[in-house]
Amino acid sequence: MQAALERRTLAKMTQERIRIVSICGSLRDRSINAAVLRAAAKRAGPAAEAQLFHGLDKLPHFNPDHDHEFAPPPVQSLRDTLEGASVVLFSMPEYAGSLPGSFKNLLDWTIGSGSLYRMPVGWINPSAHGGARDAFRALRLVLEKAGANIIETACAEIPVGRDDVDPDGEIKDDVLLQEIAAVVAALAAAATMQKMDEKKHGA
Ligand SMILES: Cc1cc2nc3c(=O)[nH]c(=O)nc-3n(C[C@H](O)[C@H](O)[C@H](O)COP(=O)(O)O)c2cc1C
Repeated sequence: MQAALERRTLAKMTQERIRIVSICGSLRDRSINAAVLRAAAKRAGPAAEAQLFHGLDKLPHFNPDHDHEFAPPPVQSLRDTLEGASVVLFSMPEYAGSLPGSFKNLLDWTIGSGSLYRMPVGWINPSAHGGARDAFRALRLVLEKAGANIIETACAEIPVGRDDVDPDGEIKDDVLLQEIAAVVAALAAAATMQKMDEKKHGA
């Protein structure tokens, strides 16, 4: 856990810009959650760069026997992506009252490696009518177990309907885009604070 944190701190010290990694918990082609994260990536601003993680469907089923330093390549790719992250933004649907199985599988691969330990994290719940709250409660529990730094101002419900996503998969509504941008700004501010704190303490 400490080793992952030290590698991440070193990576961040050589990075000029904040890196926002987004992870979508839906594999659906026209996913609303993916559209939200694409919109968030475009609002990262000049001081930040955004990266969407695309390997969710490549991850093998979690098996503690394979959860070691030399993990299967798709797992290594996830860990490398997280090692380069300043902050992580999640968005996912709820399936049958909880997290999508493939997404929980991804989270399970981050525990042993400490990939989310002390990582500033936030999320956007785009479900309408108060949906998906149980899934986001479950996400909070997992992130607490992972030792992540949950940035409360970067955890938001921003209902996005299917009609809010155009045929190109883009969200065009200005109010929604402003709300999404506020989450990104809160995460970027948390990353900046953490960077300053690490510099101050000579990490
Ligand atoms: C199998 C299945 C189960 C679902 N269960 C829930 C649920 O328990 N609660 C909920 O709010 N929505 C549920 N939904 C609705 C999805 O969360 C919703 O369609 C969401 O927009 C999908 O996200 P996506 O567009 O990013 O794929 C379910 C959808 C499917 C396909």
